[in-house]
Amino acid sequence: MKPLLQRFQFHSLLSTLYLLITICAPIITSSFTPYHTLFLSLASNSSASSHLLHLTRLPHLSSSYEDSLAASYVISSFPFPSHSTFYSTLLSFPVHRSLSLFSPSSPPFHFSLTQIPSPSDPSSTCFSLTVPTFHAYAHTGSVRAPLTYAYYGRVEDFDKLGSLGINVTGTVVLARYGKIYRGDIVKNAQDAGALGVLVYSDYEDYAKGEAFPAGPWLPQSGVQVGSVFRAIGDPTTPGWSCTAGEEECERVSIDEIVRRGDMLSVPSLPISGKDGEELHKAIGGQVAPDDWQGREGAPVYRLGPGPGVVNLTYIGNETLRTIQNVFAVIEGREEPDRYVLLGNHRDAWTFGAVDPNSGTAALLELSERLYKLQKKGWKPRRTIILCNWDAEEYGLIGSTEWVEENRELLTSRAVAYLNVDSAVYGPGFYVSATPQLDALLIEASKMVKDPDNSSQTLYNSWISSASSPPIERLGGGGTDFAAFVQHIGVPSIDMAFGDGYPVYHSIYDDYLWMEKFGDPMFQRHVAAASVWGLVALRLADDEILPFDYISYAIELKGNAKSIEEEAAGCPISFSPLYKSIEYLKTAAVNVNAEKQALEEKVWRLSLRKDKSKVRELNDRLMMTERAFTDREGLSGREWYKHLIYGPSKYNDYDSKAYPGIDDAIEEAKKSNTTEAWRFVQHEIYRVARAVKQASLVLNGGLT
Ligand SMILES: *[C@@H]1O[C@H](CO)[C@@H](O)[C@H](O)[C@H]1NC(C)=O
Ligand SMILES: *[C@@H]1O[C@H](CO)[C@@H](O)[C@H](O)[C@H]1NC(C)=O
Ligand SMILES: *[C@@H]1O[C@H](CO)[C@@H](O)[C@H](O)[C@H]1NC(C)=O
Ligand SMILES: *[C@@H]1O[C@H](CO)[C@@H](O)[C@H](O)[C@H]1NC(C)=O
Ligand SMILES: *[C@@H]1O[C@H](CO)[C@@H](O)[C@H](O)[C@H]1NC(C)=O
Ligand SMILES: *[C@@H]1O[C@H](CO)[C@@H](O)[C@H](O)[C@H]1NC(C)=O
Repeated sequence: MKPLLQRFQFHSLLSTLYLLITICAPIITSSFTPYHTLFLSLASNSSASSHLLHLTRLPHLSSSYEDSLAASYVISSFPFPSHSTFYSTLLSFPVHRSLSLFSPSSPPFHFSLTQIPSPSDPSSTCFSLTVPTFHAYAHTGSVRAPLTYAYYGRVEDFDKLGSLGINVTGTVVLARYGKIYRGDIVKNAQDAGALGVLVYSDYEDYAKGEAFPAGPWLPQSGVQVGSVFRAIGDPTTPGWSCTAGEEECERVSIDEIVRRGDMLSVPSLPISGKDGEELHKAIGGQVAPDDWQGREGAPVYRLGPGPGVVNLTYIGNETLRTIQNVFAVIEGREEPDRYVLLGNHRDAWTFGAVDPNSGTAALLELSERLYKLQKKGWKPRRTIILCNWDAEEYGLIGSTEWVEENRELLTSRAVAYLNVDSAVYGPGFYVSATPQLDALLIEASKMVKDPDNSSQTLYNSWISSASSPPIERLGGGGTDFAAFVQHIGVPSIDMAFGDGYPVYHSIYDDYLWMEKFGDPMFQRHVAAASVWGLVALRLADDEILPFDYISYAIELKGNAKSIEEEAAGCPISFSPLYKSIEYLKTAAVNVNAEKQALEEKVWRLSLRKDKSKVRELNDRLMMTERAFTDREGLSGREWYKHLIYGPSKYNDYDSKAYPGIDDAIEEAKKSNTTEAWRFVQHEIYRVARAVKQASLVLNGGLT
């Protein structure tokens, strides 16, 4: 406590000095200020842990009474004026689930489909409030058919089955969780002709050590619940939103949603590792390849079909429910109409200690620090908006409806969106970002202590053995940045400590798990809040936006090379794309020089602060990302407007660069027609035009 106190006083002194200076002289602040260092020193791990405990007392499925209690908790904890937006959206609930196994060697077996809580876990007393295990939006139906085994259910796994002579048509597929989005597992199985799908958590992937609560691993009865919806936002309002209570609002029918392929047409269920193993014992036929086998001691996995036959029955209820997003707003002093948005979702499949409320706890802890800064006289230059989304688990619904509703204003005013879904899964810092934010992230990570080793910075641990910090891109789906990046082109970040955890979406994702295994000292929570807040403060306070587009141009060139290699020998040319990237690079170099010149002049006090000049430069920096979006969107998936980053068609979690070109190349490789290759060339030109538009925006000035 002592050093912390000293640091606090030191910075208070400094900030007074800083205030005096800023009042007397117009200094452009383009780096960390004493307020920002003060922000770091105010971190409170006990506050984070207390918020998490409150948020995870009860399971809080989207639109449930308990979810509304959690919303009230967030509202009462935000120390700033807050408001909510309510939408009426199609959610999905299980009505009936059953699974029976008929195998020649044993009597029929009826699975209980129930997770067993540990009596020593305090959360177990509320277990009865959790939703039964199911796949949200799964097809209602009953099927009785022999089993086949399809490993992780990827396209290549079904191809492998085909090459081994196994015909999946007319069977129920047993597939493992762990490599791709579950909605894509079911889709791939459906495309291969399966009549139903069971997705289980193999011990080899999820139970490598002692099970919770003794260890961090998934207990035998543990089940990963989740959505199999294959689009984003409310299924009935693609591209627009329906406010709760709005009487006349257009909606598409469920039949139409199924026709588009966004809802699947075969039933599916998630099941436990134990049930998965039981089913494996009833599958005969060819022995599965070595890498498809389970852990040591598991039965030999075979491919089927049969002889085991299952009766899989699922009845779901898709129904309109009201969801609630909560916002707190800290109005900007000089540019209230420029928004820096921080977002996290609140709804959880069960208790949500990791997913998502470690992020909510970090957001609330961060908001308390901002409040303390405000008490000391800080006011952001731009408006900061703290967002707490609902119904993310169903399909990023709360954030997407809000972005769709506010599309035009956000397009002209949003500076950046900073997402944290689960703040903490475990150790290690993992970040994804649009590339103009790379440099800022690196600077921020150098200011924050490594939560797992106080003698180094987060940057040191992040970089570890690599030559530069590994920053992923934001093409994948899976969390709330999707609408901001892929629909409207807002520069964004997504970050977390750890990457994945075994009790994901099960009843064991609770406070005890976090306290024992995820973050025993809650230091990772506060480190997440520190980076998150620091990046937000720079974006909100810097006179000139800390965006660097040189890294964007470098990224684009690297991605172009990869995709060109993938298409080596094909009758297409990437030179229009390379040329446009050169334009962007030149524009980025020029804008950085312009920015530096402006800063230097002002430092020398030889220039009166030219507000409109600064504003104009910032607008260019803000709007450049928008130029990567295209009104028409990706071919065949028009909601996705971003031509640089989008999800893979076969795994929503997988981030693709140039998804439109990638899709087109794949088609052309299959058909090898002149027309198909011409379409690839068209897609290349289209991206090149977008990149050129971006360079023109960055240059500012009409041709
Ligand atoms: C698989 O079986 C179905 C129906 O039994 C049949 O129509 C289909 O042609 C088969 N596919 C292959 C690749 O043999
Ligand atoms: C499958 O199970 C369901 C629910 O238990 C039952 O209603 C149905 O008759 C069974 N179907 C067959 C073909 O056994
Ligand atoms: C589905 O839910 C709605 C409202 O929540 C209810 O009125 C309806 O009876 C339910 N249908 C089924 C089949 O359970
Ligand atoms: C902590 O960081 C310091 C400085 O980088 C390093 O020398 C030390 O080995 C680290 N300790 C652990 C336990 O990783
Ligand atoms: C906060 O961190 C301190 C120092 O690491 C630790 O002693 C304390 O137990 C932590 N508090 C909580 C609630 O985890
Ligand atoms: C594609 O078609 C072209 C010309 O029609 C032919 O030369 C080429 O070998 C084909 N490529 C493949 C992979 O079939």
